[in-house]
Amino acid sequence: MRYTIENLRDGDQERAHQIAAQSFGGNRPFDPSALLPSLDRTIAAYDGQALAGRLKIVDSAQWFGGRSVSMGGVSGVIVAPEYRRRGIAQRLLDASLQRMHEMGTAISTLYATTATLYRSRGYEFAGTTSIAVLDAGDADMGGSPNAELIGWDDPRVRALYNRVAQSRNGWLDRTDYTWASAWQGFEKLPEPRALYGIVRADNIVAVAGYSCTSPSIAPSFDAHFDMHTRFLFAQDGAGLADALTLLALHGPTAGVIEFVYPTDELRLSIRQGQRITEKERPAWMTRLIDAKAAIAARGFTADVTAEVHLDVIDPQLPHNHGPRVLQIQNGTGVLETGGRGDVSVDVGDLASLYTGYSDAGMLRAAGRLAGAETGDVEALRRAFSGSAPHLVDFF
Ligand SMILES: CC(C)(COP(=O)(O)OP(=O)(O)OC[C@H]1O[C@@H](n2cnc3c(N)ncnc32)[C@H](O)[C@@H]1OP(=O)(O)O)[C@@H](O)C(=O)NCCC(=O)NCCS
Repeated sequence: MRYTIENLRDGDQERAHQIAAQSFGGNRPFDPSALLPSLDRTIAAYDGQALAGRLKIVDSAQWFGGRSVSMGGVSGVIVAPEYRRRGIAQRLLDASLQRMHEMGTAISTLYATTATLYRSRGYEFAGTTSIAVLDAGDADMGGSPNAELIGWDDPRVRALYNRVAQSRNGWLDRTDYTWASAWQGFEKLPEPRALYGIVRADNIVAVAGYSCTSPSIAPSFDAHFDMHTRFLFAQDGAGLADALTLLALHGPTAGVIEFVYPTDELRLSIRQGQRITEKERPAWMTRLIDAKAAIAARGFTADVTAEVHLDVIDPQLPHNHGPRVLQIQNGTGVLETGGRGDVSVDVGDLASLYTGYSDAGMLRAAGRLAGAETGDVEALRRAFSGSAPHLVDFF
């Protein structure tokens, strides 16, 4: 075989950066101090000495049903143009699935630019990220928020995020690395940037991090700048309302605010909710690396009882393949080998059910759950019910 698949060789980070710039666009110079996963989390393809492609695995976790599920974020999948259409990306992915399994990772999630590549390796659409825009003045919820300018390293920011994220399906249980990556995303926003805490009884109850971007330096009586929020989370509706009002207080001079936040929740929170426009809703894809571990790790609604006899199809990872009984009770799930195998389910579709993104009835209507009776559909619906899976991080 002409290509070897191995860890990125030390010294090839700059070449990887060049291929990434060719692959995704961008003119930022190589920065040796930039955040990168370790070499054993960077799987590369070589043609002799030449780097042909690579992907990165970001150690992380996502919250599902109030419990943290270990997740390998696959990012920066690139193959140099001269090596494309030779199956290298598929081989990189195959190696990354094995690596994540060795690492004991339960699931893997990624943002796809081509779904066919990832579907062929057991990923399926499993949640969304919403980018919405609203005229700044329309975010005004009234009152004068008690806001304090805070530093990004203020431990109260992390503490509040951790409390908020765990009740939201799909949000990252951020590791040191994913925190650093989130801050890097914030720092990529143009200046001026600011991070505020909304303070109530000496506690921070909401965080709003945003930038005010000037599209033009020409004097104008129109709005002078747009705003981009990258950090927005609140412990309750009142906290969110104050954070939104803080943003809205730029209304006299600002144009629109761009949010990376669940649009549906903003629509509920804002008085004139109909004025929110969703600009983009990219869907992310998830794969069950270890289906049994993934089911054991996530939380389920406490009063739900369900049993479904599945026949899981997973050509890449044999430890997931074959008949399995899914049982949910007392907020806990188990997936045991055996059973009647009534419902044939592709491992990708199981991931899509697992996160709560796909409805079992919709999958069956699309011809995807062969053998499923109405009772099976209802049991799967009960099992994976919960809030819509969402991410506010990019990786
Ligand atoms: C996407 C990319 C990684 C594919 O690399 P590659 O080594 O050429 O891919 P492979 O030869 O292994 O092809 C695997 C599958 O990927 C998909 N794919 C590959 N190139 C594609 C293209 N230009 N358009 C759409 N799908 C494509 C196909 O499903 C293909 O399978 P098929 O040939 O059986 O249909 C490469 O084109 C690239 O680096 N693109 C720019 C960066 C990017 O989009 N990365 C993915 C980020 S999620």
